[in-house]
Amino acid sequence: MSNRFSELSLSEAPVIKTTPPGPKSKAMLETQASLESSVVSYPKGMPMAIKRGKGATIEDVDGNVYIDMFGGAGVMAVGHGHPDALKAAHAAIDLYTHTLDIPTDVRATMVAMLRELLPAELSRVFFGGPTGSDAVEQAIKLARYNTGRHEIIAFHGAYHGMTGVALGLTTDESHRAGMAPLVPGIHFIPYDYKYRSPFGGPEDETDLRAAEYLDLVLSDSHSGFGKPAAVIMESVQGEGGTIIPSPRFLKMVREITTKHDVLLICDEIQSGLGRTGKMFAFEHAGSDCIPDIVTMSKALGGLGFPISAIAYREKLDTWPAGASIGTFRGNMAAYAAGAAALRFMKDNDIPGYAAELGAKMLKELKKLETETKIVGEARGIGLMFGIEIVRDQKTKEPASDLAKKVRKYAHQRGVMIEVGGHHNNVARLLPPLIITEELAMKGVEIISQVIRDIEKEI
Ligand SMILES: Cc1ncc(COP(=O)(O)O)c(C=O)c1O
Repeated sequence: MSNRFSELSLSEAPVIKTTPPGPKSKAMLETQASLESSVVSYPKGMPMAIKRGKGATIEDVDGNVYIDMFGGAGVMAVGHGHPDALKAAHAAIDLYTHTLDIPTDVRATMVAMLRELLPAELSRVFFGGPTGSDAVEQAIKLARYNTGRHEIIAFHGAYHGMTGVALGLTTDESHRAGMAPLVPGIHFIPYDYKYRSPFGGPEDETDLRAAEYLDLVLSDSHSGFGKPAAVIMESVQGEGGTIIPSPRFLKMVREITTKHDVLLICDEIQSGLGRTGKMFAFEHAGSDCIPDIVTMSKALGGLGFPISAIAYREKLDTWPAGASIGTFRGNMAAYAAGAAALRFMKDNDIPGYAAELGAKMLKELKKLETETKIVGEARGIGLMFGIEIVRDQKTKEPASDLAKKVRKYAHQRGVMIEVGGHHNNVARLLPPLIITEELAMKGVEIISQVIRDIEKEI
């Protein structure tokens, strides 16, 4: 596996010629800061201006080359500028760029491709607006339309987006602050977060307790929950800190929602399309957790083109034409690039590759739990990782400042990563799924060294 996909990335990485931000990056960042909104955030964590991306590598305007372990927040599954996706997008835009939802060949190809990947039960596909948030809005709208109910259950740590209902379903206080009143009728319950079990342990029973809690609030007429339209669940929590539920949890959530006649929406915007070693993360429970509705976006556009979709069961296909409309729901470049990327993923068993490479990376990252004192837990599934940085392994006190330092130092040494988690203390890795073994292991080595160096500083 070591040489697979080496032609897709720049041959030499990382290369740090000048500690980022170099002079050209700095000038562009200053201009950006003076003209764009103060809310712009990514360049604050990774100060650089980008010249180009190729595969799992990115070059900045100062000639530094990075190993991209951020992957555009999980968007760049087949890497930057994948040749098949580029070729397909170029061919499509010569023909058409916008057709609303009137059919074209590339749209039909995308639908056929999704049919190959989705479980047969999810027989209907609907393309919404261009972002993941919009897929969430459409999923909730469909669930409410079909059930005539409006309440929704989501999980602690959930991230579902920044628009109306999606923001209401997102837990991070920094996004919610000052936004009240948010959409009413949304309830949050504990997720299978073993490392910080909301039930106080034992860790390996967190899934049982969390599932029982869901059953309880749905069974108890005094729980304060009305019967909801749906439960929405990230099949692996992403922004919440790469929290990986057990297959048993996925299965139980499915069983409980079925028992109570409540729809299950799996949000696979981040965890879907090969990321976790399966095409969809709910497939880690085999066929025991087929949702009623699945949301997709991020990797769906192949090259980072904006597109989102939901797929759902036939019985839910009750809404009349025009019940949900929008202008940008047919991005031809996105369909073309996305379908080509998905074809490449399927033909090359990219989920299998992600599972195999991810296991090797995790084995190295796990060593940090014993070799350092500031890694509380290193966890991963496929090519989706979280490293919990703590001040003390026993008390598990989160160390958000140190996690941000990990991101900063890794960037300075040529590896791009992100920070997330309930306490903003989880270093998160979402590399392109076509990253070579060599780049992946080099990246892991640099991150491990950065963590060791930070430990020496404190
Ligand atoms: C699980 C999940 N759902 C929804 C979204 C929202 O997607 P977007 O940022 O494209 O609106 C995200 C974004 O990170 C996500 O991770």
